[in-house]
Amino acid sequence: MSGCLIAFEGIDGSGKSTQVERLASALRAAGHEVCVTREPTDGEHGRKIRALSTRGAPLSLEEELDLFEQDRREHVKELIAPALGRGEVVITDRYFLSTAAYQGSRGLDSDAILRSHEELFPIPDVVFFIDVPPEAALLRVEARGEEMNESYEKLGFLQDVAKLFRSFERAYICPISGEGSPETVHQAVLAQLTARPGLPSL
Ligand code: ADP
Ligand code: TYD
Repeated sequence: MSGCLIAFEGIDGSGKSTQVERLASALRAAGHEVCVTREPTDGEHGRKIRALSTRGAPLSLEEELDLFEQDRREHVKELIAPALGRGEVVITDRYFLSTAAYQGSRGLDSDAILRSHEELFPIPDVVFFIDVPPEAALLRVEARGEEMNESYEKLGFLQDVAKLFRSFERAYICPISGEGSPETVHQAVLAQLTARPGLPSL
Protein backbone atom coordinates (compact mmCIF):
# COMPACT_ATOMS: atom_id res chain seq x y z
CA MET A 1 0.00 0.00 0.00
CA SER A 2 1.38 3.37 -0.89
CA GLY A 3 1.16 6.28 1.53
CA CYS A 4 -0.43 9.67 1.31
CA LEU A 5 1.17 13.04 0.62
CA ILE A 6 -0.36 16.11 2.26
CA ALA A 7 1.08 19.59 1.78
CA PHE A 8 0.31 22.81 3.63
CA GLU A 9 0.79 26.01 1.66
CA GLY A 10 0.27 29.70 2.23
CA ILE A 11 2.16 32.92 2.82
CA ASP A 12 4.58 33.39 5.72
CA GLY A 13 2.67 33.62 9.00
CA SER A 14 -0.51 32.02 7.61
CA GLY A 15 -0.35 29.32 10.29
CA LYS A 16 0.99 26.38 8.28
CA SER A 17 3.41 25.08 10.92
CA THR A 18 0.69 25.27 13.58
CA GLN A 19 -1.72 23.26 11.40
CA VAL A 20 0.91 20.72 10.34
CA GLU A 21 1.54 19.86 14.00
CA ARG A 22 -2.16 19.61 14.82
CA LEU A 23 -2.96 17.41 11.86
CA ALA A 24 0.05 15.18 12.56
CA SER A 25 -1.16 14.68 16.17
CA ALA A 26 -4.72 13.90 15.05
CA LEU A 27 -3.53 11.36 12.48
CA ARG A 28 -1.12 9.70 14.92
CA ALA A 29 -3.92 9.45 17.49
CA ALA A 30 -5.95 7.66 14.81
CA GLY A 31 -3.13 5.13 14.40
CA HIS A 32 -1.35 6.40 11.29
CA GLU A 33 2.40 6.45 10.83
CA VAL A 34 3.09 10.13 10.12
CA CYS A 35 6.21 11.76 8.73
CA VAL A 36 6.39 15.55 9.20
CA THR A 37 8.74 17.52 7.02
CA ARG A 38 9.25 20.95 5.45
CA GLU A 39 10.74 22.95 2.62
CA PRO A 40 13.19 24.52 2.31
CA THR A 41 14.67 21.39 3.92
CA ASP A 42 17.45 21.13 6.45
CA GLY A 43 19.62 19.49 3.80
CA GLU A 44 22.49 21.01 1.86
CA HIS A 45 20.39 23.03 -0.60
CA GLY A 46 17.80 24.09 1.97
CA ARG A 47 20.50 25.40 4.31
CA LYS A 48 21.97 27.37 1.43
CA ILE A 49 18.54 28.88 0.62
CA ARG A 50 18.02 29.99 4.24
CA ALA A 51 21.50 31.47 4.47
CA LEU A 52 21.05 33.38 1.22
CA SER A 53 17.55 34.64 2.10
CA THR A 54 18.62 36.16 5.43
CA ARG A 55 21.45 38.00 3.73
CA GLY A 56 19.28 39.17 0.80
CA ALA A 57 19.73 36.69 -2.01
CA PRO A 58 22.29 37.85 -4.58
CA LEU A 59 21.06 35.16 -6.97
CA SER A 60 19.38 35.51 -10.33
CA LEU A 61 15.76 34.35 -10.46
CA GLU A 62 16.80 31.29 -12.45
CA GLU A 63 19.53 30.37 -9.95
CA GLU A 64 17.07 30.77 -7.10
CA LEU A 65 14.50 28.57 -8.87
CA ASP A 66 17.20 26.00 -9.53
CA LEU A 67 18.14 25.89 -5.83
CA PHE A 68 14.54 25.29 -4.72
CA GLU A 69 14.20 22.62 -7.38
CA GLN A 70 17.40 20.85 -6.31
CA ASP A 71 16.28 21.01 -2.69
CA ARG A 72 12.95 19.40 -3.65
CA ARG A 73 14.62 16.75 -5.77
CA GLU A 74 16.75 15.67 -2.82
CA HIS A 75 13.78 15.93 -0.44
CA VAL A 76 11.62 13.65 -2.59
CA LYS A 77 14.40 11.14 -3.23
CA GLU A 78 15.75 10.91 0.31
CA LEU A 79 12.64 11.36 2.43
CA ILE A 80 9.25 11.73 0.75
CA ALA A 81 9.35 8.82 -1.72
CA PRO A 82 10.77 6.31 0.79
CA ALA A 83 8.18 7.29 3.43
CA LEU A 84 5.35 6.99 0.88
CA GLY A 85 6.77 3.59 -0.11
CA ARG A 86 6.49 2.46 3.52
CA GLY A 87 2.83 3.50 3.47
CA GLU A 88 3.25 6.51 5.73
CA VAL A 89 1.31 9.77 5.72
CA VAL A 90 3.78 12.49 4.75
CA ILE A 91 2.87 16.03 5.78
CA THR A 92 5.05 18.73 4.31
CA ASP A 93 5.12 22.38 5.37
CA ARG A 94 5.47 23.90 1.86
CA TYR A 95 5.97 22.08 -1.44
CA PHE A 96 5.89 23.01 -5.11
CA LEU A 97 2.98 25.51 -4.98
CA SER A 98 5.35 27.70 -2.93
CA THR A 99 7.79 27.75 -5.83
CA ALA A 100 5.05 28.62 -8.31
CA ALA A 101 3.69 31.40 -6.05
CA TYR A 102 6.93 32.89 -4.68
CA GLN A 103 9.22 32.57 -7.70
CA GLY A 104 6.19 33.53 -9.84
CA SER A 105 5.80 36.71 -7.80
CA ARG A 106 9.46 37.46 -8.28
CA GLY A 107 8.97 37.45 -12.04
CA LEU A 108 9.05 33.87 -13.34
CA ASP A 109 6.17 32.12 -15.10
CA SER A 110 4.14 30.56 -12.27
CA ASP A 111 2.06 28.31 -14.54
CA ALA A 112 5.17 26.94 -16.23
CA ILE A 113 6.76 26.23 -12.83
CA LEU A 114 3.60 24.50 -11.63
CA ARG A 115 3.32 22.31 -14.72
CA SER A 116 6.99 21.38 -14.65
CA HIS A 117 6.96 20.50 -10.94
CA GLU A 118 3.85 18.38 -11.43
CA GLU A 119 5.90 16.41 -13.96
CA LEU A 120 9.04 16.22 -11.83
CA PHE A 121 7.63 15.45 -8.39
CA PRO A 122 4.85 13.41 -6.77
CA ILE A 123 1.55 15.30 -6.91
CA PRO A 124 0.11 15.66 -3.40
CA ASP A 125 -3.11 13.83 -2.53
CA VAL A 126 -4.24 17.14 -1.07
CA VAL A 127 -2.82 20.61 -0.56
CA PHE A 128 -4.36 22.62 2.25
CA PHE A 129 -3.90 26.22 1.19
CA ILE A 130 -4.24 28.27 4.37
CA ASP A 131 -5.55 31.61 3.16
CA VAL A 132 -4.94 34.61 5.42
CA PRO A 133 -4.91 38.32 4.47
CA PRO A 134 -1.25 39.37 4.16
CA GLU A 135 -1.74 42.21 6.68
CA ALA A 136 -2.87 39.72 9.35
CA ALA A 137 -0.10 37.26 8.51
CA LEU A 138 2.53 40.00 8.84
CA LEU A 139 1.16 41.04 12.26
CA ARG A 140 1.49 37.41 13.38
CA VAL A 141 5.08 37.20 12.17
CA GLU A 142 5.91 40.43 13.98
CA ALA A 143 4.21 39.21 17.15
CA ARG A 144 6.31 36.05 16.92
CA GLY A 145 9.25 38.39 17.43
CA GLU A 146 11.00 37.21 14.31
CA GLU A 147 13.26 39.48 12.40
CA MET A 148 11.56 40.68 9.25
CA ASN A 149 13.05 38.96 6.27
CA GLU A 150 13.92 41.69 3.79
CA SER A 151 13.43 39.75 0.58
CA TYR A 152 10.44 37.59 1.46
CA GLU A 153 8.23 39.21 4.00
CA LYS A 154 7.32 42.64 2.71
CA LEU A 155 3.62 43.37 2.47
CA GLY A 156 3.44 44.18 -1.25
CA PHE A 157 5.33 41.05 -2.14
CA LEU A 158 3.17 38.87 0.11
CA GLN A 159 0.07 40.37 -1.49
CA ASP A 160 1.35 39.23 -4.89
CA VAL A 161 2.19 35.80 -3.51
CA ALA A 162 -1.27 35.45 -1.93
CA LYS A 163 -2.89 36.45 -5.22
CA LEU A 164 -0.98 33.77 -7.09
CA PHE A 165 -1.76 31.09 -4.48
CA ARG A 166 -5.46 31.96 -4.91
CA SER A 167 -5.20 31.77 -8.70
CA PHE A 168 -4.11 28.14 -9.01
CA GLU A 169 -6.90 25.82 -10.12
CA ARG A 170 -6.21 22.20 -9.33
CA ALA A 171 -8.48 19.47 -7.97
CA TYR A 172 -5.89 18.63 -5.31
CA ILE A 173 -5.89 22.18 -3.86
CA CYS A 174 -8.20 22.69 -0.91
CA PRO A 175 -8.44 26.32 0.24
CA ILE A 176 -9.03 26.80 3.96
CA SER A 177 -9.69 30.14 5.63
CA GLY A 178 -6.88 30.69 8.13
CA GLU A 179 -8.52 33.64 9.84
CA GLY A 180 -10.21 31.82 12.73
CA SER A 181 -8.50 30.47 15.84
CA PRO A 182 -5.97 27.65 15.40
CA GLU A 183 -8.65 25.20 16.59
CA THR A 184 -11.25 26.54 14.12
CA VAL A 185 -8.78 26.18 11.26
CA HIS A 186 -7.82 22.68 12.44
CA GLN A 187 -11.48 21.61 12.47
CA ALA A 188 -11.89 22.93 8.92
CA VAL A 189 -8.87 20.86 7.85
CA LEU A 190 -10.30 17.74 9.51
CA ALA A 191 -13.69 18.31 7.88
CA GLN A 192 -12.07 18.45 4.45
CA LEU A 193 -9.94 15.40 5.20
CA THR A 194 -13.11 13.46 5.91
CA ALA A 195 -15.06 14.90 2.99
CA ARG A 196 -12.46 14.24 0.29
CA PRO A 197 -12.12 10.65 -0.92
CA GLY A 198 -8.86 8.70 -0.62
CA LEU A 199 -7.41 10.54 2.37
CA PRO A 200 -6.41 8.96 5.71
CA SER A 201 -9.35 8.21 8.01
CA LEU A 202 -9.66 9.69 11.49
P1 ADP B 1 3.69 29.71 9.19
O1 ADP B 1 4.27 28.34 9.43
O2 ADP B 1 2.67 29.70 8.09
O3 ADP B 1 4.72 30.78 9.01
P2 ADP B 1 2.95 29.64 12.01
O4 ADP B 1 2.16 28.40 12.23
O5 ADP B 1 4.39 29.63 12.43
O6 ADP B 1 2.85 30.10 10.47
O7 ADP B 1 2.16 30.83 12.69
C1 ADP B 1 2.66 32.16 12.71
C2 ADP B 1 2.34 32.81 14.07
O8 ADP B 1 0.94 32.99 14.17
C3 ADP B 1 2.76 31.96 15.27
O9 ADP B 1 3.18 32.79 16.31
C4 ADP B 1 1.49 31.22 15.64
O10 ADP B 1 1.44 30.91 17.00
C5 ADP B 1 0.41 32.22 15.25
N1 ADP B 1 -0.81 31.57 14.74
C6 ADP B 1 -0.90 30.40 14.07
N2 ADP B 1 -2.18 30.14 13.72
C7 ADP B 1 -2.91 31.18 14.17
C8 ADP B 1 -4.31 31.52 14.11
N3 ADP B 1 -5.21 30.70 13.52
N4 ADP B 1 -4.69 32.67 14.67
C9 ADP B 1 -3.80 33.49 15.27
N5 ADP B 1 -2.48 33.26 15.38
C10 ADP B 1 -2.03 32.11 14.82
P1 TYD C 1 10.05 29.15 5.63
O1 TYD C 1 11.31 29.14 6.44
O2 TYD C 1 9.19 27.96 5.59
O3 TYD C 1 9.23 30.41 6.10
P2 TYD C 1 7.93 30.46 7.04
O4 TYD C 1 8.16 29.51 8.17
O5 TYD C 1 7.89 31.89 7.48
O6 TYD C 1 6.78 30.07 6.19
O7 TYD C 1 10.38 29.50 4.12
C1 TYD C 1 11.36 30.44 3.78
C2 TYD C 1 10.93 31.26 2.62
O8 TYD C 1 11.18 30.54 1.39
C3 TYD C 1 9.46 31.62 2.61
O9 TYD C 1 9.33 33.02 2.60
C4 TYD C 1 8.94 31.07 1.30
C5 TYD C 1 10.17 30.85 0.48
N1 TYD C 1 10.07 29.77 -0.53
C6 TYD C 1 10.20 30.09 -1.88
O10 TYD C 1 10.39 31.25 -2.25
N2 TYD C 1 10.13 29.09 -2.81
C7 TYD C 1 9.95 27.78 -2.47
O11 TYD C 1 9.89 26.90 -3.36
C8 TYD C 1 9.82 27.46 -1.06
C9 TYD C 1 9.63 26.03 -0.64
C10 TYD C 1 9.90 28.49 -0.13
